[in-house]
Amino acid sequence: MTTPETTDLRNGWNQVAAHYQALHRHSTASAHYGPWAPREEELRLLGDVRGSRILELGCGGGECCIAFARQGAQVTGLDWSEAQLDYARSQARQAQLAIHFVQGDAADLRQFAEASWEIVFSTYTFQYLADLPQTLQGCARVLVAGGLLVFSLDHPLRDCFFDATEQELSVYPARSYFDSSPLLWRFAHPGVWMQTHHHTVGEWVDLLGQAGFRLQRLLEPVPPRELLDALWPEDDARAPLRCLPQTIIFVAAKEG
Ligand SMILES: C[S@@+](CC[C@H](N)C(=O)[O-])C[C@H]1O[C@@H](n2cnc3c(N)ncnc32)[C@H](O)[C@@H]1O
Repeated sequence: MTTPETTDLRNGWNQVAAHYQALHRHSTASAHYGPWAPREEELRLLGDVRGSRILELGCGGGECCIAFARQGAQVTGLDWSEAQLDYARSQARQAQLAIHFVQGDAADLRQFAEASWEIVFSTYTFQYLADLPQTLQGCARVLVAGGLLVFSLDHPLRDCFFDATEQELSVYPARSYFDSSPLLWRFAHPGVWMQTHHHTVGEWVDLLGQAGFRLQRLLEPVPPRELLDALWPEDDARAPLRCLPQTIIFVAAKEG
């Protein structure tokens, strides 16, 4: 398979949005951390959000924004993709919730005032961001002192099992854990190329510290059994993939 030299993520997500929403159909009952992790109603990483100002980066279809707004938070959802935002706005309209959705790059938060949020939240978006120091410094700038940055993404160990040639997970490591080159992968439908970035867990911890955050928790949830059984049954040749962590969640507070 020929991989492209470059990818246009904004355009890519615009093409993929309808398929992504049909595939995932995330619930709006509680914020989520991706398909492999318990939801916020179980993890309780943010505490009581009533009255809190929350900025969600890479809000996609807006499901987490809606869940937070229902709990009484003042929410803004930011996404790079207009098509994702259209879907988010229509969901918020149906739910009759006043949520502010803005188009923008999570790596450039200059449109927001300093210290304007108690929580910056993100699910499965930070791996798309090439300039993490700039992104994390931006998050620190817009958070109040002591404010929380909570985000989830693919577990870095999982990246090592991605076979770029076959475009699927392999049962043995296909790339080094220490290889920092981007991962190029294709959404099966409609065949759009995406690019994500790999950092070791240690690099994530250092990047957070350098941006002025104190790491409070690092979660590696046990993957849900029903999803493992559906994808890689115990008697399947791909069953070794059941042994991997799939998601990582960082909870960090702005120092000061
Ligand atoms: C895997 S989806 C996750 C969406 C949503 N958080 C969810 O869990 O369903 C990644 C999202 O990140 C957005 N995204 C990618 N790069 C971005 C960037 N640089 N700035 C803002 N959003 C971005 C995409 O448009 C997409 O909506």
